[in-house]
Amino acid sequence: MKVSIILAAGEGTRMNSSMPKVVHSIAGKPILSYVVDICKSNHIDKNIAIIGHKSEIIKEKLGHENLCFIEQPMGDDVPYGTGFAVQQAMDEFNDDDLVIVLTGDTPLFKKETLGNFINFAEKNDQEACIMTAIVSNPTGYGRIIRGDDSFIKKIVEEKDANVKEQAVDEVNTGIFAFKGSTLKKYLKELDTDNAQGELYLTDIIHFIVNDGGKVGGFVIQDEEEMLGINSRVQLAQSEQVMRRRINDKHMANGVTLLHPESTMIDSEVEIGPDTTIYPGAVLQGKTVVGRGCTIYGTSRLVDSTIGNNCIIDNSLIEESQVGNEVNIGPNAHLRPNSNIGNNVRIGNFVEVKNSNIGDGTKAAHLAYIGDADIGSEVNIGCGVIFVNYNGVEKLRSVIKDRAFIGSNTNIVAPITVGANAYIAAGSTITKSVEAGELSIERGEQKNIPGWSERHNK
Ligand code: UD1
Ligand code: CA
Repeated sequence: MKVSIILAAGEGTRMNSSMPKVVHSIAGKPILSYVVDICKSNHIDKNIAIIGHKSEIIKEKLGHENLCFIEQPMGDDVPYGTGFAVQQAMDEFNDDDLVIVLTGDTPLFKKETLGNFINFAEKNDQEACIMTAIVSNPTGYGRIIRGDDSFIKKIVEEKDANVKEQAVDEVNTGIFAFKGSTLKKYLKELDTDNAQGELYLTDIIHFIVNDGGKVGGFVIQDEEEMLGINSRVQLAQSEQVMRRRINDKHMANGVTLLHPESTMIDSEVEIGPDTTIYPGAVLQGKTVVGRGCTIYGTSRLVDSTIGNNCIIDNSLIEESQVGNEVNIGPNAHLRPNSNIGNNVRIGNFVEVKNSNIGDGTKAAHLAYIGDADIGSEVNIGCGVIFVNYNGVEKLRSVIKDRAFIGSNTNIVAPITVGANAYIAAGSTITKSVEAGELSIERGEQKNIPGWSERHNK
């Protein structure tokens, strides 16, 4: 069996945050979720996260992940360190398991990289394998110290390293594979005799080698993958790397990004081919966009589904569903639970909330459509307002197919307007209108000749 232990109990002091470090997001997803994802996609049988600092927030954000949580005791009377963290999971694996240890603050490892490492570890059958990287700047990482025979002898943490060791540019990425029996044996031998007074997991390597055991080193080529997040600056760096990867993937799939550097697409977003996205667009959460769409300007799409061949211009769409050939904006706002059919027009400054809008319906300008069920080929004139709130409760209105709602109408819920009915412009409609009727509600117009001349005297 393969077991992963993901270390995520640390405080992340350098983040200066009220939240634990690993729940901060990059490309819209918590840092820790990326690490969990690469474990799951490599078919690791059991994934364990070691949590401690503000663990309730981690459980809340990742509770759905099918991840086992183990609490690391925290406080002045217990030790600290990556070794102490792994000790908490001692009863969760068996002697013949392969145990993969990862740090929860390194979200950029690719699933293939972990897969290749696991293959390497399984093939080599050593007591332990370390994933290492040759980096341009080793500052902050544990250094890999090799002997004259080029075998790994130990890992020295930066704070414990002498000048010669500090100059070594091969570093510990933080990913290990251990034989279960080996890990169990040496976890018990760790001590805090080091510069930071911590139980270092990395000391196990030294113990194995001292006892004549073999340690394998798997060197990765792309140092970008191991970027750890310890500060907001590193958070921004990782964000950039992840965004670039996501954008590259979509472009490879046939999406045109006119200016990828300023297009923000979250990691779980899906986009169909031949969709074109202009600079400034933000696609968040579980948004799905179909093929052949054009998204202009600073549009933001949140957890929404958009069909094919739609045009979205400078608009905000939240938790809504949009059909095919729909034209939205500029400056429209679909609030949660709006379901828009095919061939619909939601134009300038139109706000829709919790409403269903049928095929071919048009609301081209300046309207508020709230809590309404609107049929197909309805015309909603300029300035129409669905008066859906009486100060206590929200009420729904129904507009049937092909009804014509004249400009500046107030539809005071709850009412029904029948199919093919006409509402004259400027009416405040408080009673339902039957199919085919004209409803007009306004004072009669009076024109008074010569009034202005008399008035100005
Ligand atoms: C660690 C490694 C270092 C490696 C680097 C790679 C050790 C001693 N050092 O250093 O060799 O180059 O990662 O990124 O292992 N954690 C716990 N409980 C603890 C302490 C830490 O769960 O008591 C978790 C943290 O939440 C974090 C991870 O372990 O996710 C790594 O801890 P961190 O303090 O960031 O270690 P580094 O100094 O980066
Ligand atoms: Ca770290």
